[in-house]
This record gives sequence, C-alpha cells and structure tokens, in this order.
Amino acid sequence: MFHFKKSACLKCAVELGIPDVISNHGKPITLSDLISVLPIHPSKSAHIFRLMQFLANSGFFVENPQGYALTSAGQLLLKDEPFNVRAHIFLSCDPALLKPRNLLIEWFQNDGPSPFDTAYGNNLWDYSLTTFADVGGGTGKVAKAVAQNFPSIKCTVYDLAHVVANQKGAENLEFLVGDMFQSVPCANAILLKVTKDILSLNSDFL
Ligand SMILES: C[S@@+](CC[C@H](N)C(=O)[O-])C[C@H]1O[C@@H](n2cnc3c(N)ncnc32)[C@H](O)[C@@H]1O
Repeated sequence: MFHFKKSACLKCAVELGIPDVISNHGKPITLSDLISVLPIHPSKSAHIFRLMQFLANSGFFVENPQGYALTSAGQLLLKDEPFNVRAHIFLSCDPALLKPRNLLIEWFQNDGPSPFDTAYGNNLWDYSLTTFADVGGGTGKVAKAVAQNFPSIKCTVYDLAHVVANQKGAENLEFLVGDMFQSVPCANAILLKVTKDILSLNSDFL
C-alpha cells in the first residue's frame, strides 16, 4: 500500500539537494550538519532523520558511524553525474502521470489504448510536446512542416548567423542564431539530424 512513499521521498530528497550536499561535503555527513544547510523550515528538522532512514533503507544512502554517505545508486542522483536519473524521478512523480494510475479500472473497462489516453484523451507525446527545436536546422524545411501541421507547437530553427539571419519566421516558428557547441535552445524535443539527400550529396563529393 505504501510503496509510493519511496518515490515521494526520493523526489523530495533530490529537490532538497541532499545527494549534492553529501557529495560536496567530501566525507560522510552528520545529520545535524546536513540539516543545517538544507532549505527547510526549522519546525521540520526532526523529520529529515526519517527521510534519511527511509532512503538509506531503499539503498540510496548508507549510514555509518561518521554520518551519511552516498551509495552507488545515490551517485545517480547528483546534478553533475552525466548519467543521473533526476529527470526520470521528476517525470515518474509528475501529477500528470499519477492521474492515469488511478484510472486502471476505467481503462480495463473501456476500449482506449492506454490509461494515459483514458485520463487525457490523447497520448503522452501529444499531451506534453509544446516546444520543438531543430538544432543545425538549416533554412527550416522540417521545422516549417512541423509548425504548419501542429499550430500548437512552438518551433525554433537554430543555426549559424549566415544561415538563419535573414530567414522569416511565422506565428509559431522562429529562427534563432547561435552556436550549438556553446548552447542549444530549451525545448521539449530537440532534433539534430542530417537529411539523407545531404548525406548522399556529400558522399558524391568524397
Ligand atoms: C548538414 S546540415 C543539416 C541541415 C538540416 N538539419 C538538414 O538535415 O537538412 C548542418 C547544419 O548545421 C549547421 N551548423 C554547423 N555548425 C553549427 C553550429 N556550431 N551551431 C549551429 N548550427 C551549426 C550548418 O549551418 C548547417 O545548416
């Protein structure tokens, strides 16, 4: 009945920054040192012990005489860990994904394709995709097609100045100058592709 508490505690610990605090401490951290740096109301201090016990029991932290340390699973919660699973934690605990889990009975009794569809009337991608960026998108052939066919999606073509500076955008299409090796636009979906035609054209020259 209470397995959902593991996910809730894990998300909370990541939001509070506990794994990064432990890692930055450089050695196991005592409960009082941990509490002293967490962004929590003083009236909740005593509850951090319960949170830590719960997550130690789940295998993310280990408690030894010197204090709390990260396990190898706990390392996957760090901001700077390239293979961290933080986005997955936030996604799996998102209220939008929790709603369908309460509708399994309705899904078994209707002809809908998924509990998500039962909750929202469309699939996850239609529901959550509102922004799209084509990085190195050239003159925007693909982004224009996406923008025209999906008016609710805000599309961005991101390329070097000499390629996009004079391109004309539309209501839901913009051309943005930038260097992908410095940064890329923020979007729900990022496209990084080379069309087959361009590849075969280049290979003709090789
Ligand atoms: C092979 S073309 C692919 C264009 C388009 N994605 C397609 O598939 O038709 C590579 C594109 O990447 C752009 N590009 C190259 N270096 C870039 C950089 N550092 N930042 C952004 N765009 C870059 C080029 O200007 C070019 O438009």
